Amino acid sequence: MQSIATFDPTDPDFLSNRFPTYRDLRDNAPVSRTVINGQPTVMLSRYSDVSRVFKTPSARVQPHPGQFPEHIGSGPASLFYRLSMPSLDAPSHTRLRKLASSAFSGRAVVAMRPWVEEIIAAGLDRLADFDTDIDFVSEFATKVPAEIACRLLHAPVADAHTVLERMPALNAVLGHSEVDPERLVEADAAAQFYFDYIGDIVDSLRGKLSSNDALGALLEAEEDGSKLTRDELVITLVGFFVASYHTTMVAMTNAVHALLHNRDQFQKLAGNPDLAPHAWEEVLRYNSPVHFLHRYAGEDMHFHGEDIPEGTHMLLAIAAANRDERVFDNPDTLDIERKSNRHLAFAAGGHFCLGAPLSRIEGDIFLRLLPTRLPQIELGRTSPAWGRDLSFPTLPSLAVNATR
Ligand code: HEM
Repeated sequence: MQSIATFDPTDPDFLSNRFPTYRDLRDNAPVSRTVINGQPTVMLSRYSDVSRVFKTPSARVQPHPGQFPEHIGSGPASLFYRLSMPSLDAPSHTRLRKLASSAFSGRAVVAMRPWVEEIIAAGLDRLADFDTDIDFVSEFATKVPAEIACRLLHAPVADAHTVLERMPALNAVLGHSEVDPERLVEADAAAQFYFDYIGDIVDSLRGKLSSNDALGALLEAEEDGSKLTRDELVITLVGFFVASYHTTMVAMTNAVHALLHNRDQFQKLAGNPDLAPHAWEEVLRYNSPVHFLHRYAGEDMHFHGEDIPEGTHMLLAIAAANRDERVFDNPDTLDIERKSNRHLAFAAGGHFCLGAPLSRIEGDIFLRLLPTRLPQIELGRTSPAWGRDLSFPTLPSLAVNATR
């Protein structure tokens, strides 16, 4: 490989204001070199390159077929990792994904809409009770997605807080960072908690759900005996919780942040609630909840004059690709009426977000109701700083005043 630009993912200037660096990389170093978790890595930031890797069937999530990272240990957290769809390649991934897809069939998603709407409307109404600045993240964005995830799995909504508490511990094995022995012990304990908690729910619901229900459809596959083991079923369901909670929390927070910073767009939405689904896609493009995903090259590849040999670890800059001016007109402008919006916030190809249909009804309902229930909502007085996680940057808090 020739000498190419380097990218420092720990640079504090980059972490506090990412988009200028993304633009510079797209324009001047679409293929750059970096190190992630001790691994030499090639980073791609243009839309066409990121999209091409997602859609290349030989691109893998595992370093070598069947090989898992050492940092996951060999306990319950490791079992969770080894049976989770995002960590699997074909053929295991293909089989599990086909079965899990039944949870988000057209009929299953239509059946979800009424209870999703009930949870979101109640959450927004709770905000209207405050007459001072409140933190949108802790008062809404952490609670509502957790309640939706609990309801999806038939867990009592009142358990949302308890269920959530263990999530950061489990997430430690899913990221790209080293996990020290102490954190691995916590991750194992969290994984075991989820196996027991979801396992009990599954056993209590056998024979009681229709196949229109997300969990009912998966239970049928498991009861068939030959399609899905109990471990796979439980881990797929825990995976729904993990995959849906954090992304939705961040997407809802980013949506409020972006719309209130661009008041004309908020007013446009208030005047035409049918723009809500487009507005959701636009906020996902504008500030994508997942900034980076990774893949290993499954064959020799070639980008902008650079050879990327088979086995190369590649970091795919989704949030940078979603602001690529080669694809999106005025990419740094939030435009809820954007005509063509084939963003990559849900990824693409074989691992395309399985829960995207649920996310889309959540976004439609949330952005339809937000200006109706809280027409006066404004940003509060404190301006938040972005979190520093490379792949999943979040606003830890977002002060808003809903009643001004
Ligand atoms: C705005 C909200 C969401 C965003 C931005 C999002 C984003 C993503 C992305 C980027 C991936 C690809 C991961 C990879 O390739 O490694 C993914 C996968 C996945 N998502 Fe979502 N997601 C969202 C909501 C949800 C919801 C509500 C669910 C519901 C359970 C869900 C379930 C999943 C599952 C199961 C996968 C794994 C698919 C696979 O590996 O085949 N997501 N999501």
